[in-house]
Amino acid sequence: MAPGAGPYVFVNPTRRLERVMVTPVANTGLEDVVVSTSDICFIDGDEGRLLYRGYDIHDLVAHSSFEETVYLLWHGTLPAKKALDRFSRELATQRRLPPKVMAVLKTLPKKSHPMDVLRTGVSLLGIYDPDAGDDSREAKLRKAARIQAQTPTLAATWARIRKGKAPIPPNPRLGLAANFLSMLFGTKPSPLAAKAMDTALILHADHELNASTFAARVTVATLSDIHSGVVSGIGALKGPLHGGANVGVIRMLLEIGEADRAEAWIKSALGQKKRIMGFGHRVYNTEDPRATHLRKMSEALGREVGQTKWYEMSRIIERTLNEQKGLNANVDFYSASTYYAMGIDPDLYTPIFVISRVSGWSAHILEQQANNRLIRPRAEYTGPRQATYVPIDRR
Ligand SMILES: CC(C)(COP(=O)(O)OP(=O)(O)OC[C@H]1O[C@@H](n2cnc3c(N)ncnc32)[C@H](O)[C@@H]1OP(=O)(O)O)[C@@H](O)C(=O)NCCC(=O)NCCS
Repeated sequence: MAPGAGPYVFVNPTRRLERVMVTPVANTGLEDVVVSTSDICFIDGDEGRLLYRGYDIHDLVAHSSFEETVYLLWHGTLPAKKALDRFSRELATQRRLPPKVMAVLKTLPKKSHPMDVLRTGVSLLGIYDPDAGDDSREAKLRKAARIQAQTPTLAATWARIRKGKAPIPPNPRLGLAANFLSMLFGTKPSPLAAKAMDTALILHADHELNASTFAARVTVATLSDIHSGVVSGIGALKGPLHGGANVGVIRMLLEIGEADRAEAWIKSALGQKKRIMGFGHRVYNTEDPRATHLRKMSEALGREVGQTKWYEMSRIIERTLNEQKGLNANVDFYSASTYYAMGIDPDLYTPIFVISRVSGWSAHILEQQANNRLIRPRAEYTGPRQATYVPIDRR
């Protein structure tokens, strides 16, 4: 193939670099392809380490809050107390939805999937955002804060509207996680449930160039706006191979029904070459460090509500998958039984992922646009090259 005519690897698309000719074979799935530099998130798939801006996820879970983690992702450093208070206040005071967005939510068909409502809702928020059209970094940060503050309200409001219940207004005195649960249920959550939700949000906040983050970056690399980037992220996260897996997990647990049926059920599913949701990962060859915390939360919340059955069943499934296929639980596996113990409807599990991952998408959108280059890969063309056009009346 003549130089200049084939597929290329762009080693660093954020800078103008030489194009390097490679064998013209498509890497479907872009596995192990490095398409960008990034200072946000580090994953060591062999050691099972996950760092946000250099900070180990285990330290953040032990000492931080979701709000502080969001600040860290967006600004690159941990905030001093005053800065964190200011940032938390900014998030807490912007939770209410614009009345026009609220009005649209009330007109949607009650059976609309919460992920579709979130996708539509964020798009609407973009239309009514006071900074719409301003693309300065300051405006982008303000818009990111509004999206971050309002996605929990969108999800909780829809969860109530679709059941014919009145939406609960946000409570600015509660942290983001506790307020989300209180808007969902109309009661203040137990300290354990609030802590578990805060932890789940920290754990889902970012994960390098996963499919939805890549989608968000591709969108804003055209110099499109932050709301469009987040909408792209939501669309990509919805699929069952990404954020939709946690719903597949709870469906599986409910179908298995009893812990003593779990091992046989999994072996039979594997025998039929079925994929078990909540297991396996493109990057981790070891335990997903997020699963370590979610496992503990699933057990603790199961105990609090007096129903450890789903946790126990999950343990058996985990052991069986490990023995049979060498597969480890990923972030989605124990988040399912954790949210179920809180009494959250299964189709809200992926929206909770959105509430958290908005923080990571926003960090990546800011980073992409700070040093932008259009992301435009190539395809290995496998179609015909000499088709002769036949007029429609002769086909
Ligand atoms: C996450 C995932 C898409 C990564 O897939 P991937 O890197 O493309 O890996 P592959 O699909 O090529 O799978 C490699 C092998 O492991 C097997 N495998 C991977 N995940 C599996 C799972 N969850 N259940 C059963 N087998 C699985 C595949 O069948 C394949 O086996 P084979 O080589 O014998 O055919 C995949 O593990 C999966 O589908 N998991 C379930 C969905 C999920 O939990 N997603 C959330 C991710 S955080």
